[in-house]
Amino acid sequence: MGTMLFQILYLVGYFFTNTFQMTKQITSLEDYQSTYKYSIENPENFWEEQANTFNWFKPFDKILEWNFEEPEIKWFVNGKLNITYNCLDRHIEVKGNQVAILWEPNNPNENVKKYTFKTLLSEVNKCANALKAKGITKGDRVIFYMPMVPELAIGVLACARIGAIHSVVFAGFSARALADRVDDAQAKMIVCSDYNNRGNKCIQVKQVVDDAMDLSCNSIETVLVHQNTGGEVNWSDDCDVWWHDLVDNQSDVCEPEWMDSEDMLFILYTSGSTGKPKGVVHTCGGYMVYTCYSFKNVFQYKEGDVYWCTADIGWITGHSYIVYGPLLAGATTMMFEGVPTYPDAGRFWSICEKHKVNQFYTAPTAIRALMAKGDEWPQKYDLSSIKVLGSVGEPINVEAWEWYDKHIGKGKAPIVDTWWQTETGGILITPLPGITDTKPTFASYPMPGVQPVLVDTEGNEKIGNGIEGLLCIKFPWPSMLRTTYGDHDRCCQTYFSPFKGYYFTGDGAKRDEEGRIRIIGRVDDVINVSGHRIGTAEVENAINAHPEVIESAVVGFPHEIKGQGIYAYVIVDGNINSNDEFISEVLKVVVKEIGPIAKPDEIQIVSGLPKTRSGKIMRRILRKIASKDISNLGDISTLLNPEVVDEIIEQAGLKA
Ligand code: WT7
Repeated sequence: MGTMLFQILYLVGYFFTNTFQMTKQITSLEDYQSTYKYSIENPENFWEEQANTFNWFKPFDKILEWNFEEPEIKWFVNGKLNITYNCLDRHIEVKGNQVAILWEPNNPNENVKKYTFKTLLSEVNKCANALKAKGITKGDRVIFYMPMVPELAIGVLACARIGAIHSVVFAGFSARALADRVDDAQAKMIVCSDYNNRGNKCIQVKQVVDDAMDLSCNSIETVLVHQNTGGEVNWSDDCDVWWHDLVDNQSDVCEPEWMDSEDMLFILYTSGSTGKPKGVVHTCGGYMVYTCYSFKNVFQYKEGDVYWCTADIGWITGHSYIVYGPLLAGATTMMFEGVPTYPDAGRFWSICEKHKVNQFYTAPTAIRALMAKGDEWPQKYDLSSIKVLGSVGEPINVEAWEWYDKHIGKGKAPIVDTWWQTETGGILITPLPGITDTKPTFASYPMPGVQPVLVDTEGNEKIGNGIEGLLCIKFPWPSMLRTTYGDHDRCCQTYFSPFKGYYFTGDGAKRDEEGRIRIIGRVDDVINVSGHRIGTAEVENAINAHPEVIESAVVGFPHEIKGQGIYAYVIVDGNINSNDEFISEVLKVVVKEIGPIAKPDEIQIVSGLPKTRSGKIMRRILRKIASKDISNLGDISTLLNPEVVDEIIEQAGLKA
């Protein structure tokens, strides 16, 4: 019976595949301009046309319902689909034997792995059946805590196949951070690896999961463990299961679950300016349409190209532009297990040569770090296959942009500086390579269907060019977040309340005289360290967990490689033996509470923090001191304790 239903589905899908065309690609500047105009004047028609390039098990009967008050956003209302059917099954007929995922191991001497669309579908189906065998059904949450191995992509797709909601936690987060996310999502299962090969390090992964399970994680019934290195692990017969025992002998046929357009596809936790990280929720239909459309256009992917995004699947970039966008578009997408500097600083470029990479997408931090290693590294390799270069996650400075252009793109591969967020699901502002112009440090132009505006602090739209303001979006796009998991009010407060009628991004931006947008950076208490978003409040809470800490204040400061570094001012209780010892203890606490990515670069022990009369910490002043720029501190006479400012400045060695 089940198989028969599947066959019927398959036929329906087959019918649609052959009826509709693939997502449209913009081909010229005029095309971009007219498409943009059309998409703004007729957003529903525009997105309907894009949506119709996919397989729907049941067509949607309305394109969009929305209000930004609640907020409530619904795209492709009452449509039924499965995103994995669109990523995999629908490509089988034409390109079943084309490589879908190309996996490059950490160790360059080990073998690459290739999954064709056909073999990937089989693996996904086996894993999907394994999840079902462990009682996972539609709507259940599954947490992934894994290195960049193919099984991570397979597992994520397996969840989507059966309608389970995946939530990938970057494998650099601590047991505490993992446990917080498991608890918030009330997940039933964790999928992890035994160990993680990263450069010349071998990192314990299963052990962190065990530690998280000891802390809380009461909702977890099963821990599915992929054997990656074969190193020894502690085992609990109650809940631990080996991937190879459970997954390998499952059937490779699994009917895709019919999902409503607005059913949840995944939760991804990200930091905000207050409290604990929030679970950004994306849904099936809109996310599918937007990630595919943006992937095809931003990277100008052509049949046969090899596309490589160096991000980790633990971040949104990996979700949208390693897994979903490329697979939906039928592209060959590469996954890299390792790090840019192992075995040496030429690794990225050697991989580009080895696999003849056509589109290369990375973060400014990586570019700056590799630039610092010298021009000789890219010079050793043939990079002539590269047609498009991408940048994401943080502002790219002019020097890094120019180096990337000259030494990697050889002046002939346009750079797309793509601006977006976990919440936006896909790239919203970017040049289109070979189509629109590029200008260093400018994300430039909105994608079709995207309506960015700059507002003043009162929420009035600033019209015209040559202006600066707060970046908002005034009309829904298909892949926008729908809620924050378990706390819709927080979603409303964070994104929709600051300026009535707009989605607020948290970024400040400029528009130049020709209308290009330049992202300046966060205007809230979020810092962007190496392209990773970290909330200052989160780091403060972690530091405050040290028993000798009374209070702390954390700010960002410009950092040559990381973009921003973390600077912590800490008030200490009583006597500490030595500052060095105390500082290393504080670092340990942060690693334990959050993970190494949140470690402060600077810790200054202070006797007080500058506060307003109402008791609010004056972060503006602390930011200036951390940036070693005390030229213009503004009026500090109204502070509760102005004397502490001089003391902090002096301690920081800024006064002669
Ligand atoms: C924040 C979102 C987008 C996926 C990775 C980060 C900053 C992102 C750019 C860019 C300048 C950028 C913004 C944004 N950001 N891209 N091209 N130029 N800043 O996703 O972790 O959700 O962080 O990253 O400040 O708000 P995220």
